[in-house]
Amino acid sequence: MTDLAAAVTRLPLNGGAQIPALGLGTFRLSGPSAVDSISAALSLGYRHLDTAAMYENEAEVGAGLRASGVKRDEVFITTKVWTSDIARGDLQASAQASLERLKLDQVDLLLIHWPNRAIPLAASIEALCDAKRRGYARSIGVANFPVEMLEDAVRLAGAHGETIATNQCEYHPRLSQAKVIEACRRHGVVFVSYCPLGQGRMTEDEAIAAIARKHGKTVSQIVLRWHVQQGVAAIPKSANAGRQRDNLDIFGFTLPDEDMRAIAALARHDGRLVKPGFSPEWDR
Ligand SMILES: NC(=O)c1ccc[n+]([C@@H]2O[C@H](COP(=O)([O-])OP(=O)(O)OC[C@H]3O[C@@H](n4cnc5c(N)ncnc54)[C@H](OP(=O)(O)O)[C@@H]3O)[C@@H](O)[C@H]2O)c1
Repeated sequence: MTDLAAAVTRLPLNGGAQIPALGLGTFRLSGPSAVDSISAALSLGYRHLDTAAMYENEAEVGAGLRASGVKRDEVFITTKVWTSDIARGDLQASAQASLERLKLDQVDLLLIHWPNRAIPLAASIEALCDAKRRGYARSIGVANFPVEMLEDAVRLAGAHGETIATNQCEYHPRLSQAKVIEACRRHGVVFVSYCPLGQGRMTEDEAIAAIARKHGKTVSQIVLRWHVQQGVAAIPKSANAGRQRDNLDIFGFTLPDEDMRAIAALARHDGRLVKPGFSPEWDR
């Protein structure tokens, strides 16, 4: 194991597994270069990969894992079922197809990618629990679930004797997620930040650049440290080995409270970047 891999904090999940607090996002990685990027990231020390059926790169993620030579059981792999496929039966079929593309027997975490108003949540959660019981996933969770929906999901999974392990949502210094993070904490659900670098925009923020200079770190290291220091996990995407390394190397320093607060104070009402037409009603 590399020093960087050993330094990564692991967060306990409902159900007994652990998730590395820093993972590699893979949205928009595709083709042979994706295989190389994923393999390089694993060689650097990444032990958590985030993919989805919708990213159409599960085959590359699986190939990158095999090319790296890192053992399967050392890597935490998340995939997601697209929002149109979360009805009973469709969800299990999507998970099975993901496993075939990844060439894996099981993923570590299977998520509902987005809720779907046209499909009753109870049916989707029942299907998700069934996918876990069939062995397709070690843990199950949701993504893009506001507070009320998360609470429903927790309750519905509980009725099947299962637990919701994570809620993966957009989070970065320009978007407050205080309500959802608080609800996750209440239910022992790990919050996973997607777009943790604001799709790269945060790396141009002047206020964070000043904090970065003070600590002798890059802006992205400060932003990612800010995430993990709150007890959330983050999955920045980078196709570049140097930036992948920077993004992972955040476990050897601590931000003082005043910097944590100054970064949180950058939140804006219009900070949300990912808001497709089928979005649920977000918590304000
Ligand atoms: N559940 C959901 O609905 C959902 C939605 C969106 C995303 N996600 C997941 O979250 C992951 C991350 O989100 P994201 O990719 O949209 O945004 P992000 O991770 O916030 O930002 C990625 C962008 O930042 C750049 N970047 C990365 N590291 C950098 C560094 N150290 N310095 C400067 N620039 C840097 C990347 O460029 P380079 O590649 O050139 O470095 C890329 O353009 C996705 O890949 C996906 O796995 C989930």
